[in-house]
Amino acid sequence: DFLLLGQTLAFTDNPLRCPWAACVRTERHGGLRVTGGIITALGPAEVLRAAHPALPVVDLGAALILPGFVDAHAHYPQTAMIASWGKRLIDWLDTYTFPEELRFADPDYAARSAARYFDLTLSHGTTTVCSYATVHPASVEAYFVEARRRGLRALAGKTCMDRNAPEGLRDTPQTAYDDSKRLLERWHGVDRLSYVITPRFSPTSSREQLAALGALYAEHPDCLMQTHISEQTDEIAWVAELFPEARDYLDTYEAAGLLGPTGLFGHAIHLTARERDRLAEVGAALVHCPTSNSFIGSGLFDMAGLASRCPVGLATDTGGGSSFSMLRTMAAAYEIAQLRGMALHPAQLLWLATAGSAEALRLGHRIGRLAVGMEADLVALDLASTPAIAQRAAEAEDLWEAVFPTIMMGDDRAVAGVWVAGAQVS
Ligand code: GUN
Ligand code: FE
Repeated sequence: DFLLLGQTLAFTDNPLRCPWAACVRTERHGGLRVTGGIITALGPAEVLRAAHPALPVVDLGAALILPGFVDAHAHYPQTAMIASWGKRLIDWLDTYTFPEELRFADPDYAARSAARYFDLTLSHGTTTVCSYATVHPASVEAYFVEARRRGLRALAGKTCMDRNAPEGLRDTPQTAYDDSKRLLERWHGVDRLSYVITPRFSPTSSREQLAALGALYAEHPDCLMQTHISEQTDEIAWVAELFPEARDYLDTYEAAGLLGPTGLFGHAIHLTARERDRLAEVGAALVHCPTSNSFIGSGLFDMAGLASRCPVGLATDTGGGSSFSMLRTMAAAYEIAQLRGMALHPAQLLWLATAGSAEALRLGHRIGRLAVGMEADLVALDLASTPAIAQRAAEAEDLWEAVFPTIMMGDDRAVAGVWVAGAQVS
């Protein structure tokens, strides 16, 4: 039980759906009380001190206390091949991704990779990740074992593929169903872990496999379903060839029973009007992966058009994305929105990286906001972590001007502290 004091920022509503200033409360000298891993009070520092004079105090001064960042779409097995040069999506998968994912046939390699991955995410202030594993069940085990050891809230699923992938990365409709079901029954709801049904994307699954996973999804409506949609135009053309009967890309999932209110669709860049309407009608969530979309050359997500209609999360898409940092990811989201004529406010960027992602993962009642009753997964940001950032922050007239240089130019050096369920991890 302790008090954590610093600048605080508490969202009361989604600043992408209403004027940002009406959605957030900031406190120059604020803080929170943490009890047994839960936030039990929030307010001005002097009020907290007066109410709890006997509690130990961690005073972070001018540092900004935020909910830990939530990365709503990543591939932890791609940690070792992030920033691979010169390819676009399909060639990038064939050249770099699949050879690396083949290495996860070795459970020891998977275990070492998971440990290294969580070291990286935590050092960047990310306390929850929703990851794809590989086709190997042991890659899911490795991720959940490591997340559980660290007390993390974490989500993942076995990536299912039964075609257009190399021997050694392919399962079948039946083994995809059986292995996913076994992993789900073993891990879903254990401690802070959630299993996510994970067909990679339509080009690497047969209709039969998509339908088998659709059946599993129908049996477990409390589980999320994650996949990719409409990331690159070549990919969309390939889906049209592979599924001539489908109305569009989304229909390949819908026909298999994979479109539901707990769906999590990564990228969602080149959507048709029907797909947008259908996703909004169903209440599915979209995940924006901006560093990936520029790095692989995919396109510009329509934040203005989509965030008003669907829950939208923010994600690194490691290792198609070019950074482990949600700060860098917010900067890329800002830049992509600018290229589409929208200036995202720092409040909107911070929302996306915390509560927005948490809501997309249907965990908005547990993580992603500073509020009483929420789990105490926290990050503290030093808003003057480099000379270039410090000289900009020194001129700031309010919190938003003070934090924006860190969003645009900050990296893991800005992470002054990370707490998982109330325990400091760095
Ligand atoms: N589409 C299918 N698989 C992947 C992947 O691993 N990364 C990205 N960025 N897109 C994909
Ligand atoms: Fe991805």
